[in-house]
Amino acid sequence: MSAFLERYGPVALVTGASSGIGWAFAEELATRGFDLVLAARRTDRLEQLAAKLEAAHGTATQLCESDLSKPDAPAALLAATAGKDIGLVISNAGFNIRGYFETTDAVEMAEMLTVNCHAPMQLAHGFLPRLKARGKGGIVFTSSVEGFIGCPFSTAYSATKALVIGLGEGLFGELAGSGVDVLTLCPGATESEATAKYAEKYAAVPNMQPAREVAQLTLDNITNGPVFVPNAHYKAQFEQLTAMPRAQAVVAMASALKATL
Ligand SMILES: NC(=O)c1ccc[n+]([C@@H]2O[C@H](COP(=O)([O-])OP(=O)(O)OC[C@H]3O[C@@H](n4cnc5c(N)ncnc54)[C@H](OP(=O)(O)O)[C@@H]3O)[C@@H](O)[C@H]2O)c1
Repeated sequence: MSAFLERYGPVALVTGASSGIGWAFAEELATRGFDLVLAARRTDRLEQLAAKLEAAHGTATQLCESDLSKPDAPAALLAATAGKDIGLVISNAGFNIRGYFETTDAVEMAEMLTVNCHAPMQLAHGFLPRLKARGKGGIVFTSSVEGFIGCPFSTAYSATKALVIGLGEGLFGELAGSGVDVLTLCPGATESEATAKYAEKYAAVPNMQPAREVAQLTLDNITNGPVFVPNAHYKAQFEQLTAMPRAQAVVAMASALKATL
């Protein structure tokens, strides 16, 4: 058994496993010998993934239909996995709304807040006692580079991802020395259904990283928290932006991004 599997296995939960980065996490974890709990709304996609992983690696999977825009969905996931020895929680499900803030659909914005913020907070709250009791394991939160600074025309999304960074950093501090590692993943543009949709609607998304590379690098850096940015281009770009006077940075971003809408 690998040291990684021994420390974070035998079972990992991945939310948002039906596509993109979550799908890639599931594939990467299966190659590392994990059994999996896969959660999303589209269970047909989860069934497809489970069959693929079972055939390729003999992975045992539990599938959970879960709509994380419903406030009680995290509690249902916790109950459904009560009997599982989960050592790694990948809280990854999320979505983005782009455009002028005032024309954002209010209901969709509330759903985004529930999926992107309420769900990771409740899942962490529910799983932490289980992980701490084991004395080893990890939590990975998928945030975004957009969580580092208020991003114009992605304002509400960027605010949700800032919360995730705050959640992950705080827990990183609380759990130091507990045997439970916490990493907040901040991807830049990554190949996924989300970016494919945006590339169709808006200007092409530059410097795209394969989802599988994001998953691999994240797992390889799980002890290098509190925050991890897998995309070198976006890491440099956001380091530059956050080093600028804030007003200058957000106004410059707004004028650059307006042209892409
Ligand atoms: N791709 C990027 O460029 C990028 C950059 C930075 C951060 N991120 C973050 O990466 C994470 C994964 O996104 P992705 O890029 O891989 O996009 P994606 O391909 O669209 O995948 C999103 C995943 O989240 C799940 N999800 C969305 N709404 C949900 C809901 N109400 N309940 C349960 N699951 C839900 C989807 O599953 P179902 O639709 O089947 O429910 C899907 O599996 C998100 O948190 C996103 O914000 C992505």
